Amino acid sequence: MKDKELVILAYSGGLDTSVAIPWLKENYNAEVITVTADLGQDSVDKNLEEKALKSGALRSYIIDGRETFINEFVWPSLRASAIYEGQYPLATALGRPLIARYLVEIALKEGGTAIAHGCTGKGNDQVRLDVGVSTLAPQLSIIAPAREWNMDREQEIEYGEKRGLDLPVTRKNLYSVDENIWGRSIESGPLEDPWNEPPEEIYSWTRSISDAPQDPMYIEIDFDKGLPVALDGKSLSGIDLVKKLNFLAGSNGVGRIDHLENRLVGIKSREIYESPAAIVLHACHNALETMTLVKEQQRFKNFVSQQYADMIYNGLWYSSHRRNLDAYISSTQEFVTGKIRVKLFKGSCSVVGRSSPYALYDYELATYDESDKFDHSSAEGFIKLFGLPYKTQTIKQD
Ligand code: ARG
Repeated sequence: MKDKELVILAYSGGLDTSVAIPWLKENYNAEVITVTADLGQDSVDKNLEEKALKSGALRSYIIDGRETFINEFVWPSLRASAIYEGQYPLATALGRPLIARYLVEIALKEGGTAIAHGCTGKGNDQVRLDVGVSTLAPQLSIIAPAREWNMDREQEIEYGEKRGLDLPVTRKNLYSVDENIWGRSIESGPLEDPWNEPPEEIYSWTRSISDAPQDPMYIEIDFDKGLPVALDGKSLSGIDLVKKLNFLAGSNGVGRIDHLENRLVGIKSREIYESPAAIVLHACHNALETMTLVKEQQRFKNFVSQQYADMIYNGLWYSSHRRNLDAYISSTQEFVTGKIRVKLFKGSCSVVGRSSPYALYDYELATYDESDKFDHSSAEGFIKLFGLPYKTQTIKQD
């Protein structure tokens, strides 16, 4: 008989990953160690370890990855202005490579032979975890029970109940939800008809516009080299800043996104996101860049931002491609320092003020009042040369 596999399973305590424990033991002659990463999701259950052991796991790890997640994943994506297809701030996509890293770390520590996760064969997350793990530790094999077992939901419940599992769900969840501190995603159920307006019940981090306060709220965010460091003049850790912004912006109805998105596996899917802090921070960061970068830097960085967002979405975090892009992004952020003032009001987030010690905006160049220092006399010659190719073309070719 083949030696026992030691499988490191990414575990959330939900139906799929609970059923995966006995399934792996039976189908792969495996021992199972579970790993759960706390990336700031609301739903980390205090009894997860006990639950995993009761379901048959040999050991269970719960890792607080919030600070690492913010500093090493979220902040680089913010500096890169990475928003997938102009809409999605990439919360789930940023979380998966860190989960892959924790799975590999525990596998190396425990002498594991394989990694397992509960992703289905239809989503992006399987790609992110598989590619992440195989890039970090090519020697580990990867098992995705839900890609193999061909059980529907009812069969999974029956399978688990027969083995005495205390299953987390009894009634059918209409929606599939994933979350971490950078955002929350909601899919399936009535959302699968792209004509349907998302029902109010799916939201849990944001107020509806009608319930949002009648008066606007103003906040100020300080950035240092492209990173947010203070809220309303008070220095905060990344975790506290993002949590607080999720609350403040969410209370004002800011952060809802309805995205018909192109998945990596070739299908379009309708996704709803709640990402209040991400929406505010990207708007502020962008506003500060418009103050501190020259036009060509802004234009070129836009291309790189799209590349960066695709790279994250497509699960290529541990690639040389990312390291190359990071080098460029870092070099753009040296002077992205200053303060942004935003107005949150009934679902909108508007930048209303900006200031920076390195501002390229120069009042004396911009103004029309008597302090104007712009050299009007040089405009005429400039325009002559600027328009010369087109004047020549008309003369020679018309
Ligand atoms: N569509 C988003 C993405 O690919 C969200 C995925 C949510 N994942 C989930 N297992 N529900 O990043």
